[in-house]
Amino acid sequence: MQEELRILITAEDIAKRIKELAKEIEKDFGDEPLVFIGTLKGAFIFLADLVRYIQKEDIFIDFVRVKSYGYSDKSSGEVIITKDIEIPIEGKNVILVEDIIDTGITLDFLKKHLALHKPKTIKICALIDKKERRKVEINPDYVGFRIEKGFLVGFGLDYAERYRHLPQICEVIK
Ligand code: IMP
Ligand code: MG
Repeated sequence: MQEELRILITAEDIAKRIKELAKEIEKDFGDEPLVFIGTLKGAFIFLADLVRYIQKEDIFIDFVRVKSYGYSDKSSGEVIITKDIEIPIEGKNVILVEDIIDTGITLDFLKKHLALHKPKTIKICALIDKKERRKVEINPDYVGFRIEKGFLVGFGLDYAERYRHLPQICEVIK
């Protein structure tokens, strides 16, 4: 069945905002090396765009893959790492890049998990911060867009694995 979608954030607005976030991160870290860790699959497009706007020499990129939602639009409340980081982050500045924060459970878990590797700092950069269903306090350091509620797709975000490829962010109308 095809869902009805409504455009919430255009591709142009997303690009503009990502450039601003990149500049903020650049400014905050000066010449220090940075490790960007993207959460698969949702953050793959966001991370790819974000790092291209950061003008620095020492940028490292890695990914983690976590599962929490499966094929539903509600969190199971359980987070499982299915792919861990592969590059060392001890003593490094880490930027954890997430597509969307909902309950906060995923990032809370990931932050604690990465902290075990003793990085110098861990900052959270989320494209979307969705407040309504927050269960665990998470205060992202860099946020693209804040919304209250709704289920969003596009620009990496999926609904049952569909719509990740859309260049804009849309709300699913049920
Ligand atoms: P949290 O652990 O509840 O914060 O969930 C975070 C993850 O749930 C995100 O990385 C997404 O994969 C997924 N998610 C939460 N809200 C949405 C949404 O509106 N659209 C698509 N995926 C979502
Ligand atoms: Mg995700």
